[in-house]
Amino acid sequence: AIERTLSIIKPDATARNLTGRINAKFEEAGLRIVAQKRIHLTKDQAGEFYAVHRERPFFDELTGFMASGPVVVQVLEGEGAIAKNREVMGATNPAEAAPGTIRAEFAQSVGENSVHGSDAAETAAAEIAYFFAGTEIVG
Ligand code: CMP
Repeated sequence: AIERTLSIIKPDATARNLTGRINAKFEEAGLRIVAQKRIHLTKDQAGEFYAVHRERPFFDELTGFMASGPVVVQVLEGEGAIAKNREVMGATNPAEAAPGTIRAEFAQSVGENSVHGSDAAETAAAEIAYFFAGTEIVG
């Protein structure tokens, strides 16, 4: 089925001017960027977005990092977009990411791992709604 998923190009990647190269990976995989904006999250907003990780030991590091510089939030659309995006990103830990994936090529560590992608249909819907109004998504 045609799905939509929420993607974030993280501060480590925007700092290294990698937005275009990461977007090329999505487009080469058949994912269509149907919404996109560059924003600078506050630590509180990052905490709200990652609320499910609130009890994790890395929560403070994660939210501090996500607020440390600009991010590009985007909606990717395509056949099986949620799984396809996770494939293109590669494993969370770049040391375990398959060759050719975004994280294998660009990520610096498990925290500074260049991209986020929704992990399931329900989270995709919630994460897209967190950043975008329906009118901002143009398929
Ligand atoms: P992401 O897909 O954005 O979802 C949660 C993030 O937490 C994950 O990618 C990692 O970047 C981050 N994360 C996971 N484990 C750790 C860790 N041990 N230390 C720092 N950040 C982590």
